[in-house]
Amino acid sequence: MSSKRVYIETFGCQMNVADTERAVTRLRASGYDILDSPESADILLFNTCSVRARAEQKVYNRIGETLKKAGKVEKIIGVMGCVAQLEGDSIFERAPKVNLVVGTRAVDRLPEIIGRVLDGEKRASDLGERRLDEGLDISPAERHSPYVAFVPIIEGCNKFCTYCIVPYSRGRERSRSATAILSEVNRLHADGYREVHLIGQNVNSYRPSNDVGLENFTGATPFSRLLRAVAGTGIARIKFTTSFPRDFHPDIMTAIEEQQNLCDWIHLPVQSGSDHILRRMRRGYNADYYKRLVDVIKQAKRPVAFTSDIIVGFPGETDEEFEQTLKLIEHCRYDAIYIFKYSERRGTPAAKLTDDVPSDVKAARFQALSSMQKTIQGRIHKSLIGKTLDVLVEGESAKSALDMTGHSTCHRVVNFSGGHSLAGRVVQVRVTDAKVNSLYGELMN
Ligand code: 5AD
Ligand code: SF4
Repeated sequence: MSSKRVYIETFGCQMNVADTERAVTRLRASGYDILDSPESADILLFNTCSVRARAEQKVYNRIGETLKKAGKVEKIIGVMGCVAQLEGDSIFERAPKVNLVVGTRAVDRLPEIIGRVLDGEKRASDLGERRLDEGLDISPAERHSPYVAFVPIIEGCNKFCTYCIVPYSRGRERSRSATAILSEVNRLHADGYREVHLIGQNVNSYRPSNDVGLENFTGATPFSRLLRAVAGTGIARIKFTTSFPRDFHPDIMTAIEEQQNLCDWIHLPVQSGSDHILRRMRRGYNADYYKRLVDVIKQAKRPVAFTSDIIVGFPGETDEEFEQTLKLIEHCRYDAIYIFKYSERRGTPAAKLTDDVPSDVKAARFQALSSMQKTIQGRIHKSLIGKTLDVLVEGESAKSALDMTGHSTCHRVVNFSGGHSLAGRVVQVRVTDAKVNSLYGELMN
């Protein structure tokens, strides 16, 4: 096969989006063409997610579907990302048409791995480690947006929450050097990006091996020093996700109060409101500890939006324990929550427990939580009517070609009527109408 046309599909979290951007940068530099659709590609890559069983199943279904469409045409098929890292060479047995298995830390070596198959190897896999700070430079052309960029600051996780596959699929925590992060943000700023998202499974566990780049910044933790250093680059808006409650130092709030370009949004997943369940999840905090963090966030000098993830139906979760989650949600008055039904992941400690909450009970708890949050969110959004928000205009609204859409600094979706020439600008929008998941407003400046 002489032609090198690649199609790549991405599932899952922002880390996967960032890995795909890196992979595509590498591939193009090695002479590959990247296509927007699979039909005429020679090489099909799937960057996969394994955080829940459904996400994993979706990948296999999608591979099957794409191959069926391709018919008799020979294609090289590659599985990348978390499923690749966890399942390794056994993927070749489960899906015999797959030729490549590329682990989460081998993304930068993708051209070499594909090269092996083009040279005649029927199957090639690489589950090796990332070479230190290797190839983290992403070409602007490959970023998912010309205005918003994901900047990984820490990879992997050491927390080992009992339900979670991430410490196995992404490995142990490794922090990028502050120098590498700052030079990437400076470059993005110079290239016209308006917003960076510092990403990692636990951004506030950030702990680089040395101080280079942070010497001139104060802060109670390496992460809050990094926040101040990134704010010092002068880029318009900085968001970060995900924060882990046990490592959440109040100095993060102080940094946000001090630095206008640190956005007013914190994603701080609580997972459950029951101390018993939190203990069995091995989260390392109880509901009271979490509520004290909520107080710190709510008392900040400028209002800060905050959001959470919740798992319903963890093994053994009783009605009373679920009620405690409802109570906590009522107490927190989150700006948004993401609800997940517990999904057993092979190899995690929780997989040894019986997944005994029936699926209809999980569904009912999901519904109860979702409807409570809708009421809370609806009320919060109504209270924003008449307020003016700074919105980064990201493009045309999906619903109407006459409207533009973007995110506020508090990470809400805001639609408003305005022209395409506004794309990439931060504008002020006065909120005139509120839906549960988005706001509508009019342009002020
Ligand atoms: N089952 C259900 N939800 C899970 N999450 C992580 N692992 C599981 C699992 N096994 C959820 C958590 C996490 C989010 C990214 O996914 O809520 O914060
Ligand atoms: Fe998974 Fe817990 Fe690590 Fe988050 S902190 S990635 S839930 S193990």
